[in-house]
Amino acid sequence: MTTAHAPGKVILFGEHAVVYGRPAIAVPVTEVRASAVVTDAPSGQGIVMRATDLDLTHRLGTATPTEHPAYPLEATVRHTLNWLGIGASLDLILTVSSTVPMARGLGSGAALATAVVRALACHLGRELTPQQVSELVYQTEVIHHGTPSGIDNTVVAFEQPVCFVKGQPIEVLQVGQPFWLAIGDTGIASPTRVAVGDVRRGWQSEPERYEALFDRIGAIARQARRAVVGGEVGALGPLVDENQALLEALDVSSPELQQLIGAARKAGAMGAKLCGAGRGGNMIALVTPDNAEPVAAALRTAGAVQVIVTQVH
Ligand code: MEV
Repeated sequence: MTTAHAPGKVILFGEHAVVYGRPAIAVPVTEVRASAVVTDAPSGQGIVMRATDLDLTHRLGTATPTEHPAYPLEATVRHTLNWLGIGASLDLILTVSSTVPMARGLGSGAALATAVVRALACHLGRELTPQQVSELVYQTEVIHHGTPSGIDNTVVAFEQPVCFVKGQPIEVLQVGQPFWLAIGDTGIASPTRVAVGDVRRGWQSEPERYEALFDRIGAIARQARRAVVGGEVGALGPLVDENQALLEALDVSSPELQQLIGAARKAGAMGAKLCGAGRGGNMIALVTPDNAEPVAAALRTAGAVQVIVTQVH
């Protein structure tokens, strides 16, 4: 039996603009994780996949429709076996589960696929680098999201803070001084594909306005990168708030996100913004060890269905 895990993630700066080539910063969130367990099955059984949270059992088939709920999982298995140069005529049981909430900006799809890739490779006696895992998981991200930038698979596979620019070598960030985040969940599922598609339509109809917004978000991400590496945590708060204002201009915030962001700021957070695709899902608040608890309590009072406090280091 082989077990592997992968964390969730949050984007600190630069979501959406990252799809258009600007830099973004993301960090892993280890308080939630996806798990995959591979065991050998009796001969002739083939590959059976079980998703315990979804009450789903599926045998690896030859003609699974793309809209089938097991399709991304099946595709991840196929891509991994192809990559490893191993045919699909194996007898295995793959069981997956996850505490990363789905479609809430915490990278649930990337986490699950990463756990699967790691578990399969390890069970079959192969070692993959984080970059190889990331490239494999990217193929699953395409199924989930259509036109992903690649930041989610990168931060989850490397499990370290990253500064990501599409098409460029990944930069792992050395955090100059650890800092704390409170992550609040609106409880509203918001598929990344939808928000990214809406931003694309906006960009197509008003290219100059959107390019200018992406430039400003990219500039904030660059400043934030310097502050994270230089340990200037105090400089991050205003940048978080500025990034949120630009995400509002892209029309990816929502009343529920605004409610949590306002509550966090009022309770003393240094800055607060939505994270991920927006419209629902999660927000982050930059907190100190002293005000993390009051901010978390204010988020719950304002309607957060879950609050995670995590340290970025
Ligand atoms: C999703 O976690 C982040 C987005 O920027 C989409 C992407 O980068 O693929 C909204």
